[in-house]
Amino acid sequence: MANLPALDVYSTAHSFQEDETRGKTVVVIDVLRASTTILTALDNGARGVIPVQDMGTASGIAAKLDSSTYLLCGERDGRKIDGYDKGNSPFEFDTPTVEGKTVILTTTNGTKAITRAAEAEAVHIACFRNARAVAELIAAQDREIMIVCAGWKNRLSMEDTLCAGLLVELLHQGNLPADASDGAVAAAGLYRTYGNDLLQVVAASNHAQRLVALGNATDIPYCCEVNVSTRVPSLHDGIIR
Ligand code: MLT
Repeated sequence: MANLPALDVYSTAHSFQEDETRGKTVVVIDVLRASTTILTALDNGARGVIPVQDMGTASGIAAKLDSSTYLLCGERDGRKIDGYDKGNSPFEFDTPTVEGKTVILTTTNGTKAITRAAEAEAVHIACFRNARAVAELIAAQDREIMIVCAGWKNRLSMEDTLCAGLLVELLHQGNLPADASDGAVAAAGLYRTYGNDLLQVVAASNHAQRLVALGNATDIPYCCEVNVSTRVPSLHDGIIR
């Protein structure tokens, strides 16, 4: 993809200033699991996903909606929030559950990254499952690109950085320009090193191990399937569709 706009990779949900996003395209990645779950919910017919930072905001939004129209969902530290309809495993968002519903979602890192990017010109949600579709869309948009990895509590996470690297590789087709940002070079290098062993490397990551301990091991191979969806979820007026 020739003549790409400038691109940088941010390693956590808090590694950028909110006003930095203005006029840019932001791609938010939370492979395990918010991005993958949002994509899955929409692929399975959800009307939309409302990403929120905290439980108070989630309850406030829910209180204004007809209770038959939404699902209140989310996790903290990987565990479903008490009293919520669903947690944050993609397997909880199958068609019979989500079809026609609005999903209100609050997660430890992913929905924070998304809401912090809301001032951007465009906000897209990426994971391994839709990486190629996201790369094709953002390459066609003539705007500076910020790839934001959600990370974990302000620390880098392996799976999100690998997915950022895959996006960089897809965008630049293995030929990074001489003036590429350090973030793009590092993420692409990580993907080149480990991309052939994706599932193995992600399964050994810190958050995958947390998920295994919580009984969510089956989420990991699902979240590591690459380019199986052509959907690009995007944020408009606070709702991802
Ligand atoms: C997050 O926002 O940190 C996650 O999506 C955590 C998870 O549910 O695994």
